[in-house]
Amino acid sequence: MAKTQIYLFLFAVMGCILMSPSSSTFIHVVGGSFGWGIPDNTTFYQDWAKPRTFGVGDKLVFLYRTGVHDVLEVSQKDFKACTQNNVTAMHFAGPTILELTEPGDHYYYCGVGAHCEAGQKLKITVCNKLGSSGHHSHN
Ligand SMILES: *[C@@H]1O[C@H](CO)[C@@H](O)[C@H](O)[C@H]1NC(C)=O
Ligand SMILES: *[C@@H]1O[C@H](CO)[C@@H](O)[C@H](O)[C@H]1NC(C)=O
Repeated sequence: MAKTQIYLFLFAVMGCILMSPSSSTFIHVVGGSFGWGIPDNTTFYQDWAKPRTFGVGDKLVFLYRTGVHDVLEVSQKDFKACTQNNVTAMHFAGPTILELTEPGDHYYYCGVGAHCEAGQKLKITVCNKLGSSGHHSHN
């Protein structure tokens, strides 16, 4: 197990390429059984994301009730400051299921009230999968 994590880490560093075959995609339920809500602490979603790898074609599932929460896709600046200067997409109907189509960093938070400030925010890095598109960039 520890060895696997080390390998995954190395591959992540080497241009973020996943070993899994391109046909296998994963469904990630954000926050696990807690779902998409206001956590007790501001590190909850980063702790959830840390041991996981996200690949192009995978899906993110945000479990919440419509009207109570939402999902905004934002820039890194907006993510850090909980501002909405550059919102890429907004999803208001729970549950929100997003397919990850672009490699790179992706930022999400809940735009309701002060939920972002309270820690309802998620940053992930999406990796290319070996044999998927052919271009394995090293960023
Ligand atoms: C952080 O918050 C989550 C969700 O409320 C909770 O399940 C978890 O135990 C908390 N972790 C710590 C370290 O307090
Ligand atoms: C908003 O985001 C887009 C896409 O990420 C970027 O090209 C643009 O420069 C950003 N604009 C501002 C004002 O940050």
